[in-house]
Amino acid sequence: MKQASHKMKSKFHYWRNHFEGNKNQFDHINWKLQEKLTLKETSIIKSSIQQFQKGENSEGKHLIQFAKKYGDATYLETIKLFIKEEQKHALVLGKFMKTQGIEKIKAHWIDNVFRGLRKLTSLENSIIVLITAEIIAAVYYIALRECTTSNTLKRICNQILLDEFMHINFQSFTLQQFYNNKSWLGKIYIRLFHRILMTGTTVVVWVYHKSVLRSGGFSFYQFYHAVYNEYLRSENIIKKEKNLNLDTTTHLIQL
Ligand SMILES: [Fe+2]
Ligand SMILES: [Fe+2]
Repeated sequence: MKQASHKMKSKFHYWRNHFEGNKNQFDHINWKLQEKLTLKETSIIKSSIQQFQKGENSEGKHLIQFAKKYGDATYLETIKLFIKEEQKHALVLGKFMKTQGIEKIKAHWIDNVFRGLRKLTSLENSIIVLITAEIIAAVYYIALRECTTSNTLKRICNQILLDEFMHINFQSFTLQQFYNNKSWLGKIYIRLFHRILMTGTTVVVWVYHKSVLRSGGFSFYQFYHAVYNEYLRSENIIKKEKNLNLDTTTHLIQL
């Protein structure tokens, strides 16, 4: 009875149901219709897609530990489903890479830094590090989609973009719960920390992925601007300044 009333109170039912209902999101990809990337396309995307594929793949052990301590069974379930969805991104990208003869990589220093940052800190900081990568992904996969003629890769990118849009909404909603309980100084500090992390990450990602970003139509300024806009969308949710837009169909039109 006690557990039932606790479940009633969870704010995360919507998100658990969302991830539950999104399990077959890549079923529309027709793997038999594979177009070979040109040599030029391969040279542009190879090391970049390898890094992103690696970054998407995580067991999420520390995140699960933090989520357990949060004390909301529905949230824990949601986080487990979310981690599976990220692993699906890694799986689908890996499958595409295999069809193109692009091997997977085992490690990359940027990925190691992100994993290290997530391990060291609290659930809140862990989510801030995670959402920073997801805000980057919300722009990166537009560039990746635009720099290839492969319809399979374009469809994969579109689905990842929709998933990441909802990830950013979900993480922002969780961060809102922490934000609400902070003093005015705590609120300023946490947003400043996120902005600094976001800016640093944007510059590093540009340096390492500019071949894809440039071919996808982004100058540094345009990339920075697009990331910043997505950051502000998230911050508005965290500060509750805008209602949460959960409509992926309007998002797809905007892409
Ligand atoms: Fe992802
Ligand atoms: Fe994500």
